[in-house]
Amino acid sequence: MNEQVPQDQSLDISLDLMREGYLFIKNRVDRFQSDLFEARFLGQKIICMSGEEAAKVFYDPERFQRNGAAPKRIQETLFGVNAVQTMDGEAHIHRKLLFLSLMTPPHQKRLAELAMKQWQASISKWEVADQIILFEEAKEILCQIACHWAGVPLQESEVKERAKDFYAMVDAFGAVGPRHWKGRIARNITEEWIKTVIEDVRAGKQKTEEGSALYEMAFHRQLDGRLLDPQMAAVELINVLRPIVAIATFITFTALALHEHPEYKERLRSGNSHDLEMFVQEVRRYYPFAPFLGARVRKDFTWNQCEFKKGMLVFLDIYGTNHDPRLWEKPNEFRPERFQEWKGSLFDFIPQGGGDPAKGHRCPGEGITVEIMKASLDFLVNKIEFEVPDQDLNYSLAKMPTLPESGFVMCNIRRKGFDTRIIRNE
Ligand code: HEM
Repeated sequence: MNEQVPQDQSLDISLDLMREGYLFIKNRVDRFQSDLFEARFLGQKIICMSGEEAAKVFYDPERFQRNGAAPKRIQETLFGVNAVQTMDGEAHIHRKLLFLSLMTPPHQKRLAELAMKQWQASISKWEVADQIILFEEAKEILCQIACHWAGVPLQESEVKERAKDFYAMVDAFGAVGPRHWKGRIARNITEEWIKTVIEDVRAGKQKTEEGSALYEMAFHRQLDGRLLDPQMAAVELINVLRPIVAIATFITFTALALHEHPEYKERLRSGNSHDLEMFVQEVRRYYPFAPFLGARVRKDFTWNQCEFKKGMLVFLDIYGTNHDPRLWEKPNEFRPERFQEWKGSLFDFIPQGGGDPAKGHRCPGEGITVEIMKASLDFLVNKIEFEVPDQDLNYSLAKMPTLPESGFVMCNIRRKGFDTRIIRNE
């Protein structure tokens, strides 16, 4: 036992983890006044850690590996079995470059433009609706643009169900019981669908442009020169489509932030890219989405007077690091201007993981996320007017992933700078 290291006393943290959710690690780090503590989880001793220094250690590939870290239940819902998230070393870097090649600035720009176009195309439908739920609309719009951009054929009639399935895989990550099972079923259905699309492309039955995500996944060569088997290619293509749909969560929190902080609207009216960016960065820092990450110790080492033993499971606190008072002044206040002069490191602002995405597991999709969020914020502020009726906008930090209860209901939606009453009277 690491005697200098604080210990969580419960026999198993599972229940406390479910009860405290996003705050589980942070509560103890604050209480113990320590960057790390030991605990027991599902019959094994684990280490939980938080903060910039902890993130640096966690992202050192000499010290940690991902193989054996993600439980089967996460692979069978969120990631897909044996996907990029579970790989290490050269094979991981090779696979990662494939993802990064699909997420370059031109791809980010294209997706942001598609998002803006699709948002605008929805206005006429919303103008005649009593109300809409932003989260539901965002999922469908993102599903449409993700498939369109990736080259995956999608009929209008399929959008609702496919969007629901993509999100069900995300919603399952912190769940037991029905939400977990929904996620598994959604994964099976989606993998079957995308596997068929991959096979059709390889057989020449489905056309897609070279450079599209569909083409690149279908014809990607592994280090040994072989194509991915169709199942694996489907899993990795889903690893691009599903998280784009998941941006609906951040868009819903963006709308909530605008509602709770209307004082920022005036500044955002210019549509200035830097102002939009500061706001969405603060949304990614302030609101909860990914709670923590897991990895296994690759070889014995000591850090912060704590012995990390080979094979041990270690959790890195994402939510807590993004709210660490050593890194963020008044971390529990929503203040986009903190990003004005922000010169962060690769390890202090980690809503989508830390480190260099080309060398480790950090999310390759941050550019896409930020650009789609900026386009969506610009749309909400500058392209429409709407009212926010009474509703339950609370979100629980115990539920992972969480969301404002109502999904953000909007009503009386009107296109800006365009008086529809005049047109109708004509
Ligand atoms: C909704 C916003 C998003 C959030 C909160 C998010 C969060 C994350 C997190 C926390 C990780 C794990 C980092 C690690 O294990 O060290 C990750 C990995 C990953 N993300 Fe994202 N992500 C988002 C959007 C995206 C987008 C838009 C894409 C692609 C279009 C994407 C693709 C991936 C992939 C492929 C990985 C695995 C990387 C690896 O294991 O090397 N994500 N993401």
